Amino acid sequence: MTASSQTSTDTAAPIDLVIFGGAGDLSVRKLLPALYMAHLHHSLPDVARIHVLGRQPWDATAFQVFLHDKVRGFIAPDSLDDAAWQGFVERLGYVCLDATQAADFAHLGQALRPGSDRIYYLATAPTLFTAICGHLAGAGLIDARARVVLEKPLGHDLASARAINDEVGRHFSEQQTFRIDHYLGKETVQNMMVLRFGNTIFEPLWRSPYIKSVQITVAESVGVGSRAGFYDGTGALRDMVQNHLLQLLCIVAMEPPVSLDPDAVRDEKLKVLRSLRPMTLADVARDTVRGQYTAGALNGDKAVGYLQEANVPPDSGTETFVALRAHINNWRWANVPIFLRTGKRMAERRSEIVVEFAELPYTLFPDTPRQPVNRLLIRLQPEEHVQLQMMAKEPGSGMRLRQVSLDLDLESAFSTRRAEAYERLLIDVIKGRLTHFMRRDELEAAWTWVEPILDGWKNLNERPRPYVAGSWGPAASSALMARENSAWTEET
Ligand code: BG6
Repeated sequence: MTASSQTSTDTAAPIDLVIFGGAGDLSVRKLLPALYMAHLHHSLPDVARIHVLGRQPWDATAFQVFLHDKVRGFIAPDSLDDAAWQGFVERLGYVCLDATQAADFAHLGQALRPGSDRIYYLATAPTLFTAICGHLAGAGLIDARARVVLEKPLGHDLASARAINDEVGRHFSEQQTFRIDHYLGKETVQNMMVLRFGNTIFEPLWRSPYIKSVQITVAESVGVGSRAGFYDGTGALRDMVQNHLLQLLCIVAMEPPVSLDPDAVRDEKLKVLRSLRPMTLADVARDTVRGQYTAGALNGDKAVGYLQEANVPPDSGTETFVALRAHINNWRWANVPIFLRTGKRMAERRSEIVVEFAELPYTLFPDTPRQPVNRLLIRLQPEEHVQLQMMAKEPGSGMRLRQVSLDLDLESAFSTRRAEAYERLLIDVIKGRLTHFMRRDELEAAWTWVEPILDGWKNLNERPRPYVAGSWGPAASSALMARENSAWTEET
């Protein structure tokens, strides 16, 4: 059976998926491979065509070379099937377009099929969003069924985020706008909702005073790579905390939504963001740590420091690491410190959420060293697993306790294929499912909380603290935890 004859998700109208910045890095590494995987696994509707837009004056042959030499390289070899690849390529077309030139949008209009459902994926710098939306409207290419997908970063502060939202909002309603945060497409992140709201045992304890602290880590082993041009003006707080980490926090901390309806879920996430205690300058000085990696080694390979990376100014003060303590001002989370941490060139790639439950009110087992008693560890990547740490008696005479864990390896528990975040989110866009996309008010609430931290850092005018590439960040990050009688997982 061919890929197309099995598709079960066809809709009546043709679908034209248009990728602005289609020859760029994100498209090559993530979007086109994700669409290939969806095609291979029959979840991309037969009626969907993909229009790759770029400024290069490619003819059909040059486009084929691009697909073959670049995009194929980002598909796992065991998923490359010649017949499926050929079928996928037949669904792709290339349109040469300069997003600032209104006339080019007429060519785009000719490539789209009459009466199709249009999805415009803006995988470009946000500075182009206004021009793109304006020219699409000018060429009559936006109707009530059209959708727009906006890639991060959506602004560099609250005002710029609002300006982008205003401009896009002139042409697309909120229901037509899909603000992507690829962390919301990760399997384990979606599974967090099930862990919390599809089980009975956690929810009664999921609050103060039964939870002592929550820590969320997104550690990366990679450095800034070839992205210094973007990254140096951005830094870890804007690149990771404002979006990915705060979205993870929302899912950990939100109240049960009344349904899985997009607005029901997003209303609850918004409440979390609005309940974050705003940071004063004194809070910023005490409760945040900025770091920047210096030369070191990872897995035996030497790694240069951030200031020696290509295109980084030698005196750059950009942070490549952030750790901070946040508080949520509501009944459920009163007095529960929430620790967030992310960085590049850390000891290993590891994203996890750790919920540390309260200490015993009294111990019957004095021989046992004081240590965290129960912890729930949710590992998002590289492997996906959930671990409940608990105490058990050491065999033998006496009553010595030791920590053991109940382990759930999600990859071996389910043999079904786990789609990458972008594949899942692209199919959501095609199906018009907004639940895993950020609403405007969520995005702006996240900036509202982040902005005083950026301002505080500017006022304090301190250089980021150095940490050696391949370590877990500056010592001040451990001290931040120690003050609350806690420790990051690798230190316990
Ligand atoms: C992106 C950031 O949003 O997320 C990158 O811009 C970061 O700097 C990436 O490397 C991490 O994503 P993942 O899925 O590899 O954890």
